[in-house]
Amino acid sequence: MEQTCDVTITGLSHDGQGVGRLSDGQVVFVPDLLPGERARVRIVHRARRHLIGQCEQRLSDNDHRRRPPCILADHCGGCALQHLDHQGQLASKHDMVVQALGRIGTIRSSPDAILAAASELGYRNRAVIPLERTADGLLRAGFYRRGSHQIVNMNRCPVLDPRLDALIEPIKRDLEQADWPVDRHLSGEGGLRHLALRIGHHSGEILITLIASHDRFDGLPELAHHWLERWPAVVGVVLNLQPKPTNTLFGAHTRPLAGREWLSERFCNLQFQLGCDSFFQVNTPQAERVVPLLLEALQPGAATLVDAYCGVGAFSLPLAAAGHQVIGLELQSAAVSLARCNAQLNNLSARASFQEGPVAEHLEALLPQVDAVLVDPPRKGLEAAVREALIQRPVSRLLYLSCDPATLARDLGALLAGPYALQRVQPIDFFPNTSHVECMAVLSS
Ligand SMILES: C[S@@+](CC[C@H](N)C(=O)[O-])C[C@H]1O[C@@H](n2cnc3c(N)ncnc32)[C@H](O)[C@@H]1O
Repeated sequence: MEQTCDVTITGLSHDGQGVGRLSDGQVVFVPDLLPGERARVRIVHRARRHLIGQCEQRLSDNDHRRRPPCILADHCGGCALQHLDHQGQLASKHDMVVQALGRIGTIRSSPDAILAAASELGYRNRAVIPLERTADGLLRAGFYRRGSHQIVNMNRCPVLDPRLDALIEPIKRDLEQADWPVDRHLSGEGGLRHLALRIGHHSGEILITLIASHDRFDGLPELAHHWLERWPAVVGVVLNLQPKPTNTLFGAHTRPLAGREWLSERFCNLQFQLGCDSFFQVNTPQAERVVPLLLEALQPGAATLVDAYCGVGAFSLPLAAAGHQVIGLELQSAAVSLARCNAQLNNLSARASFQEGPVAEHLEALLPQVDAVLVDPPRKGLEAAVREALIQRPVSRLLYLSCDPATLARDLGALLAGPYALQRVQPIDFFPNTSHVECMAVLSS
């Protein structure tokens, strides 16, 4: 049965929804509402432990509420906090970290002031954009509506680097005219699935990737060469084959269509090659600010370290360049090849080596050889075996980079119950306008 009630929002959930309580204490999540706001809310769903509401009327506004800079912000699920100004976002993200550490990790800590990004728009160096074709042949491209797999069709995305943003509309037009099948969910004969764009923030080099379930597209190499000639910044166009009906965006095989399979980028004044599918931090200037923090946290005396979940060596190599001996661990084979290649490019192979495989299998054997460990896991955080290895064989410095305060809090809770003490937590705004927040935690034993 539907119910309407007045609710005061007291915080933000991890995905940017307003959180409040009804008079009987039940927790309600309401999209688009901000802390401090009071609103008439219709309850649209009752889950076991919380309610979902929809705002019918805002009765008061947060002082930092603003008109979103993106015209699609009310529909697109890509950014959850466009309606909150930059200062408001920073305060909310800091609070999200405090809340997660306290609630999940039972850690009472005072994180340092969040490091704000210089630009809240135009910062993303990468986008993977779902594609579909309508019954009348129009090509639609865009991110998903919040909580669904419905595309919100777009031609512009203001958080994307403007040099990539400018390519979306003409690429869509060319794909529409090419009339190739688009079948993202593989419900029919297969076809194109996603468009992926990546740019080197400093180099300006662009790599265009079409992700498809097969390679039967007449005229595709010709169109790829046309793109290369039309846009001098585009150094390569590739086709990534993902024939499996899974949520994994990229498949194992990538074929060059025109130009190179990689782009060059400078990161912390080192040379990097990046492929289409390997992880690389999406906000380059903010990621570069992390390196001096890591170096400071490694002082004094942490000469050797493991960089677990190292990707293409974005942190391993600057640390090696500063004199540390680094062993990188990474699951993705393509990323390990690039990390080794990047070490060679910068004459750092003697100080940075890389092992391919799961951290849970490799870390324990390496722990007796090193003074410090840097972990930078995916959103799901550390596997239990990794936490356990770090607790059983403590290192003097443990640096944890996290893109999810909830799993960071869970892992810190376990590590602090073991032999570690928390030195600092530094939130960093890597993803303005979204509800995501990066944190660096420094632990010692
Ligand atoms: C958040 S990214 C960090 C990458 C790198 N530190 C950087 O900043 O560029 C996480 C990385 O962990 C890798 N990864 C995921 N699960 C892993 C596992 N079980 N063992 C090793 N690496 C893993 C992913 O392929 C990805 O490159």
